[in-house]
Amino acid sequence: MDTKYYSQLAWQYRRQHHSYSPVTTTDALKTSEHQPLLGMTVVITGVTSGLGLGIAKNLYRMGATIIAVGRSSTKLDSVKTLLLSIDMPPTSSSSSSSTSVNTTNDVSSSSTNNNPNSRVYVFVADFTDLNSVSKAADAIKSQFSSIDFLINNAGMYHAATTDIATQQGYEIVFGVNYLAHFLWTYKLLPLLHFVHDSQGDDKKDKGTVRIQQQKQQRRIIQISSTMHGAVDGNDLYSLDYVHHPPIASIPLNTTIQKSRSYSNSKLAQIYHTRALNRHLMSQKHSCPSLVDDLNNNNNSSSSSRGGGIQPPASCVHVVNVCPSWVGTSISASNFAEFIMKQLGYEADGFGVASTLHAMFYPMTTTTNTTSSLDYVSNNKNFASMVRFATKVLGKYPWLDSSNIRVKIWTTISLLLLMIEKFIPDTGFVETSEESYNVTKQDALYVWSLQAIQPFVKK
Ligand SMILES: NC(=O)c1ccc[n+]([C@@H]2O[C@H](COP(=O)([O-])OP(=O)(O)OC[C@H]3O[C@@H](n4cnc5c(N)ncnc54)[C@H](OP(=O)(O)O)[C@@H]3O)[C@@H](O)[C@H]2O)c1
Repeated sequence: MDTKYYSQLAWQYRRQHHSYSPVTTTDALKTSEHQPLLGMTVVITGVTSGLGLGIAKNLYRMGATIIAVGRSSTKLDSVKTLLLSIDMPPTSSSSSSSTSVNTTNDVSSSSTNNNPNSRVYVFVADFTDLNSVSKAADAIKSQFSSIDFLINNAGMYHAATTDIATQQGYEIVFGVNYLAHFLWTYKLLPLLHFVHDSQGDDKKDKGTVRIQQQKQQRRIIQISSTMHGAVDGNDLYSLDYVHHPPIASIPLNTTIQKSRSYSNSKLAQIYHTRALNRHLMSQKHSCPSLVDDLNNNNNSSSSSRGGGIQPPASCVHVVNVCPSWVGTSISASNFAEFIMKQLGYEADGFGVASTLHAMFYPMTTTTNTTSSLDYVSNNKNFASMVRFATKVLGKYPWLDSSNIRVKIWTTISLLLLMIEKFIPDTGFVETSEESYNVTKQDALYVWSLQAIQPFVKK
């Protein structure tokens, strides 16, 4: 699968959903005659409902192997049954070896009873517990030598639980949405880096059936939110993080903290994305400009890669996504869920478009810290105003410290819910003014690295 193909796939989605139509992504895929993602492996957290389930269904239909992660084994079994029951379009290659993924043969030891012949594997992980996250990541690593996409989707809103802290004592929304995924990403990153050698005799890949496609770019997708713009990042920042952890990580159980916790966790994800992209670049694991590569390929008369820029043997991009309002149960309120289901995008329809765009659209590098090419929104028109709005709000820090900013932001976002279906448009946009603060990004990254250390080797 080359970059041209990724581009076509992304644009196909964009075209199909440029204006609101009852034809969902799912319907469009049902008519697909081939499975472009055969042989590709995607890890998705929070796969048991909402967006995660919608993404899993769509990618499964496209031929991907799904590593489904959730906290309930019963729910995971239902997801597995559901995916396996999906009517697949006929494909001539579905029985060939290219459909097999790079798992090791020994899957019988898995407590989740995974079958090496299926394209669905399930793993239990409770993201309120870093031990559980670490164990699940190790279980995946023992069964897979490489993956192509990591979709960090599991998430919660403070109203979903009466608990205020994770097992390790971190504020629960920050802990689940951000810190647990930081550990998860850290532990699974080697699988995204792993490259098969040209002879197919990689040591680590012993006993596996190799994928025939040449894979060049792998991506980590962080499901963030426009709500990141409701806060300025000061809760995530600590000058002396050794003695004073970021305030967003401490369970204070105050109304103000609860109302900001979701936004803080979503901004933290964006900080993570940018710090990690810089880290990957310093390790020479980031991707060169694939847009340039694509252009070079298109303009060239030579046959193979047309003189385009060769990416390193393995390169990884981290991309944020805001799906806009999607009809799911994230709000933990029956009334809000009802409204979101009426007015929001469908979780198994246009809701997943931004994730697919982030996965497949050719990208430029994210060397530039103010690059706008690391955040995809399902509602480009609204999201493109975020930077401007936060520039204005940022001039009045008291709005943030008095919690008025969160209230303004939430009100505007709710108003948008009324009209978003009339203006869907997926694409890359800029994020809040404060989200580009490199000092804050790096400080949180260093603190998080320290916080996860006790769980890295478990
Ligand atoms: N819906 C929207 O409008 C919207 C907008 C912007 C961003 N997002 C983001 O989209 C992502 C998916 O949310 P959603 O809207 O699809 O909500 P959802 O339907 O409530 O799904 C959340 C998923 O996360 C899982 N999860 C929650 N806590 C967990 C934990 N402690 N350990 C493991 N898994 C856990 C849930 O598992 P269970 O099934 O076991 O509860 C569920 O599978 C979230 O990151 C959210 O912030 C959503």
